[in-house]
Amino acid sequence: MHIQDLQEPELVEIEPVHNCNLRCLMCHVRDEKLTNTKLDISCFRHLNGIEGKWVLLGSGYEPFMHPDIVKIIQRLSELGANIDLTTNGTLLNPKTVSAITGANFKNVSFSVDGVSRKTYETIRLNACFDSTIENIANFRQQMKDCYCAINYTVSKINLNEVSDAVDFFEEKGFNHLGFISMVVRSESGDVKKLSTEKDLAEYVRQLDEAAQKIINGKYRITISSPLFLHNDYLSEKYKANLLDTTLKSNNEYAKVPFNPRNSFQTGSFAGMKIDCRSPFVFARILYDGTVLLCNKFDIGSIYQDSLRDIWYSGRANFVRRLIMENPRICKSCDYYRFCLRADELDYTKKETHYAENISGNDNPILIEGYKDYNIVLWQNKYYSIHRALGSIGIEMFLAEFNKVEGVVVASTIEESRKAIDEMIAKSTYPQPILVNTHKRHNIISFVDKYFAIPQSLGKIEVAQMGYHASIIKCDSINGLKELVDNKIKR
Ligand SMILES: C[S@@+](CC[C@H](N)C(=O)[O-])C[C@H]1O[C@@H](n2cnc3c(N)ncnc32)[C@H](O)[C@@H]1O
Ligand code: SF4
Ligand code: SF4
Repeated sequence: MHIQDLQEPELVEIEPVHNCNLRCLMCHVRDEKLTNTKLDISCFRHLNGIEGKWVLLGSGYEPFMHPDIVKIIQRLSELGANIDLTTNGTLLNPKTVSAITGANFKNVSFSVDGVSRKTYETIRLNACFDSTIENIANFRQQMKDCYCAINYTVSKINLNEVSDAVDFFEEKGFNHLGFISMVVRSESGDVKKLSTEKDLAEYVRQLDEAAQKIINGKYRITISSPLFLHNDYLSEKYKANLLDTTLKSNNEYAKVPFNPRNSFQTGSFAGMKIDCRSPFVFARILYDGTVLLCNKFDIGSIYQDSLRDIWYSGRANFVRRLIMENPRICKSCDYYRFCLRADELDYTKKETHYAENISGNDNPILIEGYKDYNIVLWQNKYYSIHRALGSIGIEMFLAEFNKVEGVVVASTIEESRKAIDEMIAKSTYPQPILVNTHKRHNIISFVDKYFAIPQSLGKIEVAQMGYHASIIKCDSINGLKELVDNKIKR
């Protein structure tokens, strides 16, 4: 496959809302300031080309925190998408379940990390074990045709319930129980303490016991764990029943899960130096309408353009070429390492499950705000960037951002501050220019962006332009006007 043969995305991930009702011990959500931004479902008119394609719902936060989640599921089903949903299941109730029984679910994964109330509620802060089990068992009963799995993120706290979990979920009719290895994403010592790396012998013993029960008892449920691949004892003992990391009995109804990420996103692609096809098959739509390639490169807004136009846009192709020409982007890609290659997580190799050990972190880091500027460190250089430009993605740095007028690159933070002082003293920094007005908004051109500022705001400091909630930013005037129109319509 080549870039010129680019097809519509095979897989679209939609993150409906930037919120969650739980605070699970191991999850990134605990370190984040959640904004409760909700995807405006009017954007569905822009969601073309997804018939027969996979749509992953809510892998990063909790999809059922979106007040219109039922409508989202119904609309995706009408559009003919194959829905793959991940949820903590705590917010389901009989009414919601009956409203979505006709939906086109192919995979539904509930995250339940433990089979005793104490263990589950210790990990999943704010959740109630009894009601969650009732909710998900009810869903399983109602939705007989969809593949229903349990995500069980293994940690020190729930390790001793791994084997019991097999009986528990087999009895409730689930198809699969995935023992996910916990990625240590946070610097916090609490999270490190949860890692099972020092308890491998017990984890192997639990999986061994679970595997014997499944095979000897001809259970219908299948289980998976990266240890079935990496642990010599388990991989040798169960090789007749293993397909990669998944173990299956010879029960005729036992089915290994279909993982759309692995099927579409991993594998070779002409011109790519890594086994990843993400930029050519996968788009992620965030709760604020941003469309991402590779889970990090902003290629447009679903509020502004159709998915098809964004996918085939010059900007998207620019990012694709950028990735192909800069292999170090992939080398330091934690999305690839921890999400797409989650099966390869090996507890005996720290670098496969510790986020802090990622080598050559390529992401720009905000070092400090100085006067009206942000000083950002990227690849040992300090970039002074006017705050009006808001947050800047890594692609801008790779695309020789230093050549953009008004961005100063320095070797030390002191040099950066000096350069900023000089720019201010000489007023050499570009000034915002009023270029147009549109529907009671002033259209301002500044550096390489256009800003629509509601006239009702009065005089605005340049430094606020990139951050003010009611100010819209865009690369082109026409795009900006359309965004203003859409905002007014909503
Ligand atoms: C981030 S949650 C989002 C969906 C939903 N809120 C849920 O809990 O299922 C998606 C999955 O990531 C898992 N997860 C959370 N923290 C993790 C970690 N540190 N390492 C690996 N998986 C993790 C969760 O258990 C869950 O199965
Ligand atoms: S429910 Fe999901 S998103 Fe929320 S904290 Fe737990 S794992 Fe994270
Ligand atoms: S940046 Fe990450 S997701 Fe994108 S192609 Fe490279 S490895 Fe894959």
